[in-house]
Amino acid sequence: MTQNIFAPRHMIIGGGSLSRLGELLKQLGFSRPLVVTDPWMQSSGTVEKCLEPMRAAGFAPGVFHETVPDPTDTVIAAGVAVLQSGDFDVLIGFGGGSPMDTAKAMAILAAAPAGTPMSAFKVPVAADHAALPVICIPTTAGTGSEATRFTVITDVARDEKMLIAGLGALPLAAIVDHELTRTVPARTKADTGIDSLTHALEAYVSKRANSVSDMYAERAMRLIGPHLRRVYTDPADDAAREAMMLGATLAGLAFSNASVALIHGMSRPIGAHFHVPHGLSNAMLLPAVTGFGLNHALPRYAEAARCIGCAAPGDADQVAGAKLMEELRALNRELEVPSPAAYGIPQAKWNALLPVMAEQALASGSPGNNPRVPDAAQIMELYVEAFGA
Ligand SMILES: [Fe+2]
Repeated sequence: MTQNIFAPRHMIIGGGSLSRLGELLKQLGFSRPLVVTDPWMQSSGTVEKCLEPMRAAGFAPGVFHETVPDPTDTVIAAGVAVLQSGDFDVLIGFGGGSPMDTAKAMAILAAAPAGTPMSAFKVPVAADHAALPVICIPTTAGTGSEATRFTVITDVARDEKMLIAGLGALPLAAIVDHELTRTVPARTKADTGIDSLTHALEAYVSKRANSVSDMYAERAMRLIGPHLRRVYTDPADDAAREAMMLGATLAGLAFSNASVALIHGMSRPIGAHFHVPHGLSNAMLLPAVTGFGLNHALPRYAEAARCIGCAAPGDADQVAGAKLMEELRALNRELEVPSPAAYGIPQAKWNALLPVMAEQALASGSPGNNPRVPDAAQIMELYVEAFGA
């Protein structure tokens, strides 16, 4: 079997590695960087952590700080206008998943003729071309976007989170510095950490898993499993944050080389219609959707449980699978993940949107990679099960 393996050309990983940004730009031959970030990074001054090492190395970076959570096609178009108004030769996505995904989408859209909508690039189109390279610097652990060939952009007119995939979305380089996550709020640490865990688990059970994605997924689960609760309860736990940061990047490499699956397919419509943070909507679905597929890939789920550390190496698959289910429910309790009902989503609106959400989930292609592939009716049943859980 032929395997296609994707990864950034250069990744600098470790505490304090952001100080090497100027050096990295020089090594790669860039001279005019545009930083893409969010308004909070700008107003809090956090963006200076990214700008300072560039200025010290003689660069005069531009900044586009208008990114939004669940980045929209309208913001991407605004970013492209800024990009094209200057003479930039590299984009730097600095922040959580949204700024990184925005930078990637700007690079892709800027390569297209004027007036092309972002929706022209959603799967199954291959978004392989970008107008300029992207360097990603995550400040959460994390979406793993710094290591993937994906970006997720909301089509405002249709309330649809579009999956965009291709080499155009793969960063040229990344700096992964866990010192940047020190001030991340506990809620965000939990949500983004569950997202990382979901990436590794879905890559591991995906029909598109291969020996390389397995290697990344297993290592990611071994790092995330024992440290996810620790970063939520103790912001001063540097060792746990370091493990989660590396785990998030490895989980990104895992799903970029395999795929995500049904949880992500169903999670995007929840984010698009109800504006639930991405990791949180994954968490809401994790127990129900894992239960749906468990017996269709039991050896894989059992091995995942052993990697996460909730099952012992000698546990039989059936036992380890049951322990995985128990662990996912326990994680949601301990990390205080609300059900959609407890989050405040009106049940009538949830029920009314079930057919649309199921259709959008299927259209993304992700459910087709699940060990058990559902039809629209089964997806709606899973949404109903997850609602009040
Ligand atoms: Fe995700």
